[in-house]
Amino acid sequence: MLKNQMILGLAVAGLTLVGITAADVDMTKVPPASTRTDVTFDKDIKPMFEKTCFKCHGAEKQKGKLRVDSLAAIKKGGENGEVFVVGKSGTSSLVHSISGAVEEIMPPDGKGDPLSKQQIGLVRAWIDSGAK
Ligand code: HEC
Repeated sequence: MLKNQMILGLAVAGLTLVGITAADVDMTKVPPASTRTDVTFDKDIKPMFEKTCFKCHGAEKQKGKLRVDSLAAIKKGGENGEVFVVGKSGTSSLVHSISGAVEEIMPPDGKGDPLSKQQIGLVRAWIDSGAK
């Protein structure tokens, strides 16, 4: 039936559109969260971001309108809104980008050493245990 074929065609076109717009996240690249429950921004997260991220997301430059140099700033997020939801590190765009699970990897290729699996695990544990 022509009508059924048209409906099928529309459905395929719709799915293709969704595929293009939704950010593809490769969760196999995201390391597990550390089991530590005492992770804090000032003690654990800030020092590693200072080395790797501040030059583009600090006092001088705010790429993507994002600063990661204070707890208040990182909680506020960037031009696309919040970069994580407390308690949900697995769906966090911050975690996805530092893990290289999305196209837009942070730090960008050739712009600094990527964070280690252990460091990313700490960022996840920090988010999951309340982002203090
Ligand atoms: C050499 C510069 C540079 C470095 C270093 C860098 N970034 Fe970025 N970052 C960018 C740019 C440019 C964008 C904006 C990308 C775009 O919108 O196309 C961005 C965007 C982001 C975003 C998305 C913000 C939003 O709301 O869309 C996050 C999250 C992020 N960076 C986190 C980090 C973290 C965490 C680090 C350190 C591990 C880091 N970046 C290091 C340049 C950098």
